[in-house]
Amino acid sequence: MNFEFTEEQQMIQQTAREFAQNEIAPSSVDRDKNAEFPTEIVKKLGELGFMGMMVSPDYDGAGLDTICYVLAMIEISKIDASVGVIMSVNNSLVCAGLEKYGSDHIKETYLKPLARGDKLGAFALSEPEAGSDATQQRTTAEKEGDYWILNGMKNWITNGLSADYHIVMAQTDKEKGHKGITAFVVEKGWEGFGHGQKEDKLGIKSSDTCSLTFENVKVPEENVIWEVGKGFNFAMNILNGGRYGIASQAIGIAEASLEAATKYSKQRKAFGTEIANHQAIQFKLADMATKIEAAKLLTLQAAGMRDAGKKYVKEAAMAKLYSSQIAVECALEAIQIHGGYGYVREYLVERYLRDAKITEIYEGTSEIQRIIIARELLRD
Ligand code: CAA
Repeated sequence: MNFEFTEEQQMIQQTAREFAQNEIAPSSVDRDKNAEFPTEIVKKLGELGFMGMMVSPDYDGAGLDTICYVLAMIEISKIDASVGVIMSVNNSLVCAGLEKYGSDHIKETYLKPLARGDKLGAFALSEPEAGSDATQQRTTAEKEGDYWILNGMKNWITNGLSADYHIVMAQTDKEKGHKGITAFVVEKGWEGFGHGQKEDKLGIKSSDTCSLTFENVKVPEENVIWEVGKGFNFAMNILNGGRYGIASQAIGIAEASLEAATKYSKQRKAFGTEIANHQAIQFKLADMATKIEAAKLLTLQAAGMRDAGKKYVKEAAMAKLYSSQIAVECALEAIQIHGGYGYVREYLVERYLRDAKITEIYEGTSEIQRIIIARELLRD
């Protein structure tokens, strides 16, 4: 395994770091407080090539490898995990899905503007009664001439309000169970396509999350992704790829927690010295740093395997499971080290905890990751 980053990977990491510091950090506290979507920042991320990082230049993407994507996601999420998830959904769920499984029409019409960052995407799988048990889709699509008529509801959709194009999974043949699910591209603004209220969340408040509703929405046949009946396999394959994105988001939050805790412990004095001189604090910092390195190695391994064209299902699930767990742990320890100051908004660490928790839930809960890992182990 090569532990050195290429010049290109280092350059992307540096670019992401500078962009996050200069363009994202100044508004992050206010956007979190006001639950405000970072419209201008997302536009600039597009100009930088960060909204379609792994998409081929043939489809207006940046043509970078998965390692570059992981490094950029960590740097962006370290400053603002809300921006991280917006970027992650567009890159690893929407663009990756359309590039791998979309027809020429879909790639020309939808992938190109999404990869350029001119348009934003969302991935609509979850429903009120189909979360972890994603086969239980109630949203239906019935064929009528050259159109599919979509009816139903989706829940917890990241970018739900802001996205222009939505990948929507729906039941097209109930008798066939998960083999009767189909994926479609649906445009915002089509008649009958609505949304619920913006969810008032614990964390990642600057990203928008809402439910989507479909009332006799007419979707052209050419907007079917891959093939009729392949929608569940499509969603599963794409979610494998999403998971190193969320793992990277979690690592960014964990790194931010460690940095804040280290800085504070060198300033704060107790019992006649900086608290960094107390072993109780040193042990916490050492454990946080060790866990972050382990999470990074797992995530870079999954990314490297994808770049090498290898199967990475188990590795991506391990990366997400572990990175999300240590993000919560590191945020909690950062609060503990800050004491009372960690519990108020003046310091950022309370936000890190609020932002970290969702990484154990979306794109497959930790329990689902364990199921995926165990199934892969038992299959070997
Ligand atoms: N990769 C590829 N294919 C997979 C897969 C994986 N990880 N897991 C299952 N599949 C395939 C199986 O091979 C099988 O395919 P075939 O029928 O062609 O052989 C098919 O899916 C059905 O598999 P199972 O019988 O194993 O299905 P199951 O119902 O027992 O379990 C599950 C599947 C893994 C639990 C799945 O339901 C799952 O991953 N649930 C979690 C869903 C999820 O991650 N939701 C996140 C929502 S999106 C989101 O959060 C985005 C956001 O906005 C941030």
